[in-house]
Amino acid sequence: MNTINPNETNSWKELSNHFKFISKIHIKDFFLKDFSRFKKFSLIFKNKILVDFSKNNITKNTIQLLIQLAKEMGLETAIKDMFSGKKINYTENQPVLHIALRNMGHDPIVVDGRNVMIDVKNSLEQMKVFSNLIIQGKWTGYTNKKITDVVNIGIGGSHLGPNMVIESLKQYRNHLNVHFISNIDSYNILSILKKINFETTIFLISSKTFTTKETMTNATTIKNIFLKKTKIKKSLEKHFFALTTNVQYAQNFGISKNNIFRFWNWVGGRYSLWSSIGLSISLAVGYKNFISLLQGAYDMDVHFSKKKLEENIPVILALIGIWYNNFFNTETEAVLPYNYHMHKFVEYLQQTNMESNGKNINKQGKKVSWQTGPIVWGGVGTNSQHAFYQLLHQGTKLIPCDFIIPINKTNKFKKHSVQLLANFLAQTKALAFGKNSNDFEENINFNVNLTNNEKLFSTFKSFDGNKPSNSIILDILDPYNLGSLIALYEHKTFVQGVIFNIYSFDQWGVELGKKMANDIENSIYSTNESNLSFDSSTNGLINFCSKVLSNR
Ligand code: F6P
Repeated sequence: MNTINPNETNSWKELSNHFKFISKIHIKDFFLKDFSRFKKFSLIFKNKILVDFSKNNITKNTIQLLIQLAKEMGLETAIKDMFSGKKINYTENQPVLHIALRNMGHDPIVVDGRNVMIDVKNSLEQMKVFSNLIIQGKWTGYTNKKITDVVNIGIGGSHLGPNMVIESLKQYRNHLNVHFISNIDSYNILSILKKINFETTIFLISSKTFTTKETMTNATTIKNIFLKKTKIKKSLEKHFFALTTNVQYAQNFGISKNNIFRFWNWVGGRYSLWSSIGLSISLAVGYKNFISLLQGAYDMDVHFSKKKLEENIPVILALIGIWYNNFFNTETEAVLPYNYHMHKFVEYLQQTNMESNGKNINKQGKKVSWQTGPIVWGGVGTNSQHAFYQLLHQGTKLIPCDFIIPINKTNKFKKHSVQLLANFLAQTKALAFGKNSNDFEENINFNVNLTNNEKLFSTFKSFDGNKPSNSIILDILDPYNLGSLIALYEHKTFVQGVIFNIYSFDQWGVELGKKMANDIENSIYSTNESNLSFDSSTNGLINFCSKVLSNR
């Protein structure tokens, strides 16, 4: 494993010099000088996904230098290490094998002497049988009624991935209603309880560890209400299921052994939608579509692990991200899906990227002196155009954007699809090129009829352009393409982690918050002001809240 710091490489120094040159050139000038720029700076995946990265502040030389950086940082070996099951999650002493979950028996992958593909195959078979039983109405509840509703109880990676996929694939949904309880805030549970009937609902307790406080509290509350209503302990068997690595804890909770859908410690929480954590997906869109999702991801894995770096889509997008993050010093990047059903995509990506690469300690345990993971944010188009795009166009911050659109050729209202596409294309063009400078200069300098006021107004209406973006176009939003797209972003995150010289697969920052919440919870119950031993702000806040709680 390579552990050198990126800013100590030769490429980093060369990139810093190269930046001085590139940063003076406007994106529109790259296009004026080279009419085949689109061809040179775009890649196609399986004739289904087009990635255009020509509207960036880059030349062929920039890409070459970034690839040199990736090589110096040992990216090629790092990719091999992940795919061969090496324990690259060093601080948790685990391999990182979400790729095995979609490998579907293609190649054996060995962990501690065992071919884990056997376990993956068995798990998929269990998911298939169960999904079919529920969807076909053959599995019935404790009063013999068919199941109509599925409630996933989980948080973080045990929620965001399945929720995003199920929303994105709305066109593929069957008759089952799927709900999510993630937040410890009781309004989450209450709002779902209003919508379901216990007789026809199953609960999937989704937790890798089966110890996450929010999930266990929510699951216990639901179980207690359920048992109060049914009054028969045996009824749990018909309605409660666990998706977890922790079989023992699930059984202790009262889940029967046959109702446990296992996965393994070598699957990171935020990379687990491909495992049994994806059971809600398989139920919502059917097992066949779940397999298409895996197939799309698998094909992206093959692309990522086999293509040379110059033609490797996740690698190129990761390197362009590094270019802005570490040389232009942009702090954030926006992800902008032009698809109504993809409204959960950004939230999902925030966990993938920010929980993975939001680290400030390098692999040697030293503070980093370079920027690591960016702030990922965004929203769906066209709504976002009328919310925050003003800042993208005319604000003082440089925000690289990923525009994503699936072409919707089967849409009933063709006019809507065409308008959506037109907006997508117009935005990337306006950001890169700004307001047509000829028009603008003509108005200002040559139009003698313009009043001073009109001249002044022209400045308010001017767009500098030179705002970079990638355009990602999917021929359709189907399970296969969605699988490929998600895997693309997973691998992009991985590549950036390698180049940042950090460990991307742990999340100690989140663990600290969990522990502190436990300590504080006990203090809220104690209500004894003088016993509080936190800082004065936390003490003051606890005192105020305890008083409000006890006055109820
Ligand atoms: O939020 C931190 C985290 O550890 C995530 O990585 C994980 O997805 C989430 O908690 C939920 O954990 P679990 O699946 O173990 O309940």
